[in-house]
Amino acid sequence: MRISVIGCGYLGAVHAASMAELGHEVVGIDVDRSKVELLQRAQAPFYEPGFEALLSASLASGRLRFSTDIADARDAVVHFLCVGTPQKRGEYAADLRYVEAAVESLLQALKPGDLVAGKSTVPVGTAARLAEVVAGKVPGAMLAWNPEFLREGFAVQDTLHPDRLVYGLPAGSDAAVARALLDEVYASIVAAGTPQVVTDHATAEMVKTAANSFLATKISFINAMAELCEATGADVIQLADAIGHDDRIGRKFLNAGLGFGGGCLPKDIRAFMARAGELGADQALTFLREVDNINMRRRIRMVELAREVCDGSLLGKRVAVLGASFKPDSDDIRDSPALNVAAQLELQGAIVRVTDPAAIPNARREWPHLDFADTAEEAARDADAVLLLTEWRTYRELDPTAFGAVVTQKRVLDGRNALDRDTWEAAGWSYRALGRRAG
Ligand code: UGA
Repeated sequence: MRISVIGCGYLGAVHAASMAELGHEVVGIDVDRSKVELLQRAQAPFYEPGFEALLSASLASGRLRFSTDIADARDAVVHFLCVGTPQKRGEYAADLRYVEAAVESLLQALKPGDLVAGKSTVPVGTAARLAEVVAGKVPGAMLAWNPEFLREGFAVQDTLHPDRLVYGLPAGSDAAVARALLDEVYASIVAAGTPQVVTDHATAEMVKTAANSFLATKISFINAMAELCEATGADVIQLADAIGHDDRIGRKFLNAGLGFGGGCLPKDIRAFMARAGELGADQALTFLREVDNINMRRRIRMVELAREVCDGSLLGKRVAVLGASFKPDSDDIRDSPALNVAAQLELQGAIVRVTDPAAIPNARREWPHLDFADTAEEAARDADAVLLLTEWRTYRELDPTAFGAVVTQKRVLDGRNALDRDTWEAAGWSYRALGRRAG
């Protein structure tokens, strides 16, 4: 099939390369010329395991190319919208300007019979409105909403082997035509028996925001339990293990620690609350405000804990921060809990050095006043405290004995409950973590 992908950020670039891998003829279109040039040279504009190899293979197959010219979408029959929907400045609501602009420019390339398939996370009601614009300007063209559930760090795997396909189809006779086109796009995924949910626009849009809200709630639930564990001396890891054995609850996404960040969960729960307010249903989602609050309190608690272990004052204390990205295996620093804590520590007078295996260039650009080091050892040299804030494997596998030789004080704060406490304590470190008793 001939496919266009509008917007070649995280979602779009991976989607475009994956669709070519599935055998389709794909053009990825973006207004950012430098991004398009990088992608066309098989260079990933972001860190994502497995993506560059997929990109090279797809380009080499001749089935994938990138362009800044929307006219190159003219040959395609299915057009995926993959542009970002960030939080509006100073408001909770989603900023839809990139979605609107993408649809507006796509109108020049659309033909009757074409399908626009939205993948971006949008407030419920957006698809129905855009469908009218599309059908009004290009009679016979259709719009469906086909949300994406990929996780950063697993983006390629999640796109090629999704755990479900959700189609939000237009009403009337267009539904069957749109469904057939999407089934053709995802033929091999459908043939593999992947569950499909075929529904309307509004439900498909809500599936995405509901899923991210549930995940955020699960994380904040366990972090609320961590607060109670801190007040009682109970242990949040054992608590999570024990409740997680109940398969109605499940152990996944019950990792207590510094909480969620990134370009999705925080802004999606806020946009969902804002949309509920517009719809007169704000009470239904007031609990998400508490989910957000619990999450933000963890960052403050982490700073307090650092102050506590540094004998009550951060002034002039050398603090090493391991991790800058919002999660491991990513260089994405959007709403990164690790950088938020690093900046707070610095504002309170600590001498902070941050390290990360992939995110330093991004972090340096956004937080130029922070000090960065290339390795954990360099960041921790002469440190009074070491904070593990993003659980990259390389930090989880640090040898506490050798690492202990570079610091001034062997104090480790495990912000992700990712280190083996016994090994670190056996090597002479004092170990503190969120939701766990002091040693
Ligand atoms: C999230 C969803 O998991 C994806 O399904 C969705 O497609 C994506 O948003 C999106 O909307 O595009 P992602 O932002 O890549 O994916 O990251 P997650 O793996 O969900 O992690 C989010 C944050 O929660 C990270 O900061 C992570 O450290 C934190 N987290 C995760 C915890 O604090 N505890 C956990 O148990 C799990």
